[in-house]
Amino acid sequence: MALSETGGRLRARLQAIEHGCEGICQYRLVPLDAQEFPPVEAGAHVDLHLPNGLVRQYSLLPSSGPGGYLIAVKRDAAGRGGSQWLHEAARVGMALEISAPRNHFALREDNGAQAPVLLLAGGIGITPVYAMLHALEAQGRTFELHYWGRSLEQMLFAGQLGADSRVQLHVAAQGKAPRAAEVVAAAHADADVYACGPQSMLDELAALDASRRSGRIYMERFAAPVPVDASAAAGFEVVLARSGLRVPVGPEQSILEVLKERGMDVMYSCEQGVCGACEVTCLEGEPLHLDSVRTPQEHAQEKTIMICCSRSLGERLVLDL
Ligand code: FES
Repeated sequence: MALSETGGRLRARLQAIEHGCEGICQYRLVPLDAQEFPPVEAGAHVDLHLPNGLVRQYSLLPSSGPGGYLIAVKRDAAGRGGSQWLHEAARVGMALEISAPRNHFALREDNGAQAPVLLLAGGIGITPVYAMLHALEAQGRTFELHYWGRSLEQMLFAGQLGADSRVQLHVAAQGKAPRAAEVVAAAHADADVYACGPQSMLDELAALDASRRSGRIYMERFAAPVPVDASAAAGFEVVLARSGLRVPVGPEQSILEVLKERGMDVMYSCEQGVCGACEVTCLEGEPLHLDSVRTPQEHAQEKTIMICCSRSLGERLVLDL
């Protein structure tokens, strides 16, 4: 289970491409070398480094493990090119590089292992949620899944999930469906809620989280919400604690951009605040968190900052770099 020599990335071979449902294919990646992949927790994702230079994040499906990882990719004609490449140019046998799995969407036990769980998935957002469902089932925990989609043909695993009494499929083509916020409002007040889906659904839940259910709604985003805080526009200074270097960050720059310009070897992937690769400990200062990786409660506890998107509320941040 060692990482290869490729800058901390794992070398993988595309072993199989399978039809998942209308518009969605599944890709199985196996270790290219004799090494095994790291084990996987439900909710984890990997960065997939495509030969055309794009890096995209994909959640790992339940059958992922040291022998191979399985991802599902929805073709998005309006997307930024990753899914199109996978649907059109990927071929069985190709070598690809991936990151080790990261998990900012793990099942929690701090609410008590017996607390009910509400899983919410919209569209391709089913991928991490489906892995969670399997983990909860294996743990014998009580859960309910609500899964929204346009039609049954476009919903991954719809056949299997539709036969499960703990699952409710909300199919737009079949008429009126409840909103995610309505489902949460009707759920057990102590339930932990995990949601992955389109931005509109997650924004709706985020608003609910702030007003009524602080801290018990966990979300996985694959696109960054638009920052609304005016402080995000101001410049500030970053101090790198290990060298004492002081670096100005202009109003139009990110901390990550500035550090890359200076040739610093910093980790990053999505550059949108959704993957967690660029997380750095913040030693002093007051960050303005603009990422979607951690909840506000986690930001208050963790003292870290995603340097690809987050900024400073004050004039200075001291980072453990
Ligand atoms: S690079 Fe993905 S969160 Fe910063």
